[in-house]
Amino acid sequence: MADSSFPRHVAIIMDGNGRWAKKRAMPRALGHKAGGEAVRRAVQAAEDLGLECLTLYAFSSENWKREEDEISDLMNLMRRFIEANLQDMIERKVRLKIIGDYKAFAPDIVEKLEGALERTSGGERTLAVALNYGAQQEIARAARLAAEEGAITPESIEKHLYTADLPPLDLLIRTSGEVRLSNFLLWQSAYAEMLFMDVLWPDFGEEHLRAACEEFAKRERRFGGR
Ligand code: IPE
Ligand code: IPE
Ligand code: MG
Repeated sequence: MADSSFPRHVAIIMDGNGRWAKKRAMPRALGHKAGGEAVRRAVQAAEDLGLECLTLYAFSSENWKREEDEISDLMNLMRRFIEANLQDMIERKVRLKIIGDYKAFAPDIVEKLEGALERTSGGERTLAVALNYGAQQEIARAARLAAEEGAITPESIEKHLYTADLPPLDLLIRTSGEVRLSNFLLWQSAYAEMLFMDVLWPDFGEEHLRAACEEFAKRERRFGGR
């Protein structure tokens, strides 16, 4: 699917785990667990649809404001997710990429993540996961690095973004009906198409990603031209 009406790079703000759990009178942790299953489905769907890169917002730099219990549930989920999915990623030739300051996580998670980065480095498609990620922090960091090398220009900043080696962002999806970016990929969204879907993240499946790509195909992108 190499034609330009099909997205190469899709990013998703995976939102609504808490509301999904609340609707079922379940603890939020179960919403996050179900969200983990949706991640598996989305990665599989991205492969089936032929995306080059899927970027998922998993933990924002502002999510540290949540209660300690919830943060700890999310960290445990991350540990289990890597253990359960690493082999499959290697076999499916999915390269893991992390955007964000993941080194602030617990040392065992950093170690697991770095092991996964190394073992999937030969992959052909990319799963980029945003961990302790904030776009403003990313841009400030890139500007600082650019300044150390010389002039600050859009190009010199771009070169230092976490996403520098990824295809341009084509489509940004947010689930759960919220219509905001919550500090995600602010720079990269300059000309991305956006789609806000009402589905709660744990209910997200192949059909939603397919529908989003079909919607993308109908959009007319102009990049400022006519
Ligand atoms: C998204 O679901 C998961 C993370 C932000 C880690 P939420 O936990 O934000 O779910 P809601 O927004 O409360 O429904
Ligand atoms: C954005 O969702 C972060 C992730 C999906 C990881 P939030 O639920 O944290 O965003 P706000 O607080 O509703 O803006
Ligand atoms: Mg939320």
